[in-house]
Amino acid sequence: MKSVRKSILAGIVGLASVCVMAQQKTPAATESPVAAGKRIYEQQCLTCHQVDGSGVPHLNPPLIKTSFVLGPKEKLVTILLNGLSGVEVDGDYYANPMPSFEFLTDQEIADVLTYIRSDFTNNADAVPAALVKSQRAAKK
Ligand code: HEC
Repeated sequence: MKSVRKSILAGIVGLASVCVMAQQKTPAATESPVAAGKRIYEQQCLTCHQVDGSGVPHLNPPLIKTSFVLGPKEKLVTILLNGLSGVEVDGDYYANPMPSFEFLTDQEIADVLTYIRSDFTNNADAVPAALVKSQRAAKK
């Protein structure tokens, strides 16, 4: 009786780990910019700006309808390429510096910006990788 229960349990655990593995599969080539951007956000930005984009008071600004997130795309690309510090964000100052994300590819920067402009109740258009490419080239 005990061993039957054990093997049922083992079966469930096995099934669960297959499910986890399936979820962790490398992203398909057809992944949308928003889906790719969300994945990058979770890896690179979430610790500071939080899962809902609300930030941390006095430390990290929110990404919810700020004048930066909804503003010119060029400025957003510059922030990701250069980082940011000591800047007023919609009337508040934040103690942390925002690091540079220059190490991400043009496509990754475009996708993560496209993502933040489309989630957290934001509804702004996509950032093209070509814009990141030209701004990166101009920087050098
Ligand atoms: C170490 C914490 C940290 C990480 C990681 C981080 N940021 Fe920031 N971010 C900040 C801080 C702090 C500021 C404000 C800087 C200032 O005060 O000048 C900021 C500012 C911003 C701004 C402009 C202000 C606003 O709130 O609209 C945007 C847009 C932004 N970050 C997006 C991102 C994205 C996208 C990522 C991931 C690729 C990211 N940040 C990762 C801390 C962080």
